[in-house]
Amino acid sequence: MKRTRFTTKNCTALITGATAGLGAEFARQLAPIAARLILVGRREDRLTALASELRASRSDLRIDTIVADLSQSSERERLAAGIIREEIPLNLLVNNAGLGDLGSFDNADWSRLAPVLEVNVVALTHLTHLLLPMLRAQVGQSSAGILNVSSIAGFYPLPEMAVYAASKAYVTSFSEALRMELAPAGITVTALCPGPVPTEFFQVATRDGETIRAMDRSHPAFATSPELVVRDALRGLEKDKPGVIPNRLLALLVRGSRLLPFPVIREAIRLGAGPKKPKVNS
Ligand SMILES: NC(=O)c1ccc[n+]([C@@H]2O[C@H](COP(=O)([O-])OP(=O)(O)OC[C@H]3O[C@@H](n4cnc5c(N)ncnc54)[C@H](OP(=O)(O)O)[C@@H]3O)[C@@H](O)[C@H]2O)c1
Repeated sequence: MKRTRFTTKNCTALITGATAGLGAEFARQLAPIAARLILVGRREDRLTALASELRASRSDLRIDTIVADLSQSSERERLAAGIIREEIPLNLLVNNAGLGDLGSFDNADWSRLAPVLEVNVVALTHLTHLLLPMLRAQVGQSSAGILNVSSIAGFYPLPEMAVYAASKAYVTSFSEALRMELAPAGITVTALCPGPVPTEFFQVATRDGETIRAMDRSHPAFATSPELVVRDALRGLEKDKPGVIPNRLLALLVRGSRLLPFPVIREAIRLGAGPKKPKVNS
């Protein structure tokens, strides 16, 4: 069967985590070309403000805002039931909502770890499962795609971000397998694996009373703007790429590191993680 390449032109896209960072940027970059956007997040005021901003730039764009806490199974079911009931011709699912927790596993509060797993892993999988029939229904009439926002952290086990890194390893692995399963059905699946991006992520991931921020600890050459990350992600999806690492230097390092035996990687991570020097706020 000849596959139709996924195109964002006239797409109907559901974007989770659209209230901030990469999710809001996905909405901004898709707004000029999409037919309809469904923006999802918990902060209603942010969703409303973003929808007004996008409508001001394009009055004929259909925008739905849905307030949902994706860590709750019932909220995910309510969200999907609405899409199915309204027969929204969804052909792009951007599973972007996610969060992290920085600090040792030993000292972590379960109340901070549970949402990392529930949103990054369970919600992404559950929403994909719930909405796949809608995407499938669009193949033939248009094209269909799933963009899962993973992370470069998913390539390595990372001390002080153990649960987050493992959650993103799941996202990358799940995306690769799903891609193989759905290829015959004509549905494109791409995993986006950015390095550090200046969003609210590090603020959310930093524990109360802690001052260390991963963004400050990583090399500036690894930082990539949300605009560039999203641009590369959408291009990668349209080119049917299995994975996208938006920063060239990081992409090179990841590819290079995959040629190394795992004990070498493990040692490099152990040395790199080193003893933490607490940052003092001035
Ligand atoms: N920033 C980075 O350096 C970086 C690097 C690699 C990968 N990523 C990934 O990129 C994705 C987007 O993160 P970001 O950097 O844009 O961070 P961000 O600015 O903190 O945005 C995270 C988004 O996720 C949503 N979210 C969190 N918990 C939610 C919940 N329970 N229910 C519904 N929505 C929820 C937030 O919306 P509400 O709070 O309004 O619900 C927000 O819109 C995440 O998957 C993250 O892991 C980020």
